[in-house]
Amino acid sequence: MKRIPEKGINRDKLLEMLQHFREKDLQWRSGRVLGYVYHAGSLAEEIGKAAYMEYLTENGLDPTSFPSLLQMENEVVAMSAAHVNGDSETVGSFTSGGTESILMAVKTARDYIRAQKPEITHPEMLMPSTAHAAFHKAAKYFDVEPVLVPVHGDTFKADVEATRRAITKNTILMVGSAPSYAHGVVDPISELAALAQENGILFHTDACVGGFMLPYLKRLGEPIPDFGFEVPGVTSLSMDLHKYGYTPKNASLVLYRDRALRRKQMFACANWAGYSVINGAAQSSKTGGPIAAAWAVLNFLGDEGYLKIASETMGATRKLAEGIGNMGDLELLAEPEMFMFAVKSETVNVFHVIDEMKERGWYIQPQFAFQNSPKNFHISVTMPNVEHTDELLKVLGESVEAARGIQEGESVKAILDAVAAMKPEDINEDNISDMMAMAGVAGDNLPERMADINDIMNSLSIEHRELLLIEFFNDLFTI
Ligand SMILES: Cc1ncc(COP(=O)(O)O)c(C=O)c1O
Repeated sequence: MKRIPEKGINRDKLLEMLQHFREKDLQWRSGRVLGYVYHAGSLAEEIGKAAYMEYLTENGLDPTSFPSLLQMENEVVAMSAAHVNGDSETVGSFTSGGTESILMAVKTARDYIRAQKPEITHPEMLMPSTAHAAFHKAAKYFDVEPVLVPVHGDTFKADVEATRRAITKNTILMVGSAPSYAHGVVDPISELAALAQENGILFHTDACVGGFMLPYLKRLGEPIPDFGFEVPGVTSLSMDLHKYGYTPKNASLVLYRDRALRRKQMFACANWAGYSVINGAAQSSKTGGPIAAAWAVLNFLGDEGYLKIASETMGATRKLAEGIGNMGDLELLAEPEMFMFAVKSETVNVFHVIDEMKERGWYIQPQFAFQNSPKNFHISVTMPNVEHTDELLKVLGESVEAARGIQEGESVKAILDAVAAMKPEDINEDNISDMMAMAGVAGDNLPERMADINDIMNSLSIEHRELLLIEFFNDLFTI
């Protein structure tokens, strides 16, 4: 087992070791990674890093001791709230990411409604099946029942009528995405939020992906529906700075229509022997880096910079969507309303296409079949990809050809036969681990080609997928 070294290692050696560690990481600077990293050019990166390092050591735990962090947070919240049509009543909090923003919005809704309607003892949250996994996490953490409403099979947008039918006396919160991550489409927020309002239910717009860019796309003439505080029933909204706000991680915002709602998010504790604890959101001690970096990048890029990013990225997305649509073998699940879309195929296995792309130096993400959404690959277009669209289309064409002849792997058949022969309740941590070993997964060792594992995941039930993922992670972190 590794131990703390007896003697410290010198700076140069440590930095050399770090460079060596990252050799196997995704090489996103190549412009051939379609996900994970949002980069708005070397100047914005430099400014974000400088501001981050300037505040790396300051502690966001106590804004009265570090009023500069308070000032920057207030300014970032104000600029962002105005961007999504907030008014003088709108308030918000800086968080570590979309997940924390969503966790906070769900906890806040639960506690707000609990105070008003104590008779609701089993609160439910109504959401389209495309809502982000973070809502499921919030449901588990805060004991709110997630009620999933299938989306329309042709557009992958929330089904308003089905949502209406799913409302019960226990519904406390409804959700819509602007846009959804999986398919890149904007839910009918106005209709959903009106429905929520009619029924005395809170409504959250998840604009983690779209909060910064959709208003710019609207200004550029794109037909973007309303999704922000201009919609009367919207009571909270999440928007990520560290995605298409192009600021360094960990940076997101959760906004509320008014102060009375946000009050329910805050945590105070005087019930112990130490200092009085008061937290705006989930974290307590935290670096000031992300707040300073977000403040600096927003001010550096400005409206002009963001508008240019929106225009160029939408142009690249359209070009890719059209090129892929014309390929014959590939089909878009939905027309993208922002910079992301999903691609399926009836003629080739999309998971082999992903592996072939990887062999050619490209990273794209698999998405498994879920309800009416078939297995597909996902593309998120960001600034580094914009100048690589022709190359991407060419390599994708080659990868489809290469994937065409590949048969399903032996291990997939063997494992799926074994699963089919077992009673679902007999599948557990141990035999899931055995299956992973058969498919070539052991500890932190993953096979180069992931199609077989992706196909196994795709064929398992949701419950077994989750079991497998947890086993995988539990083994991946070897200690
Ligand atoms: C629509 C949407 N909401 C929430 C999240 C969660 O964000 P994070 O990964 O920053 O926690 C994501 C992440 O991709 C997302 O796409």
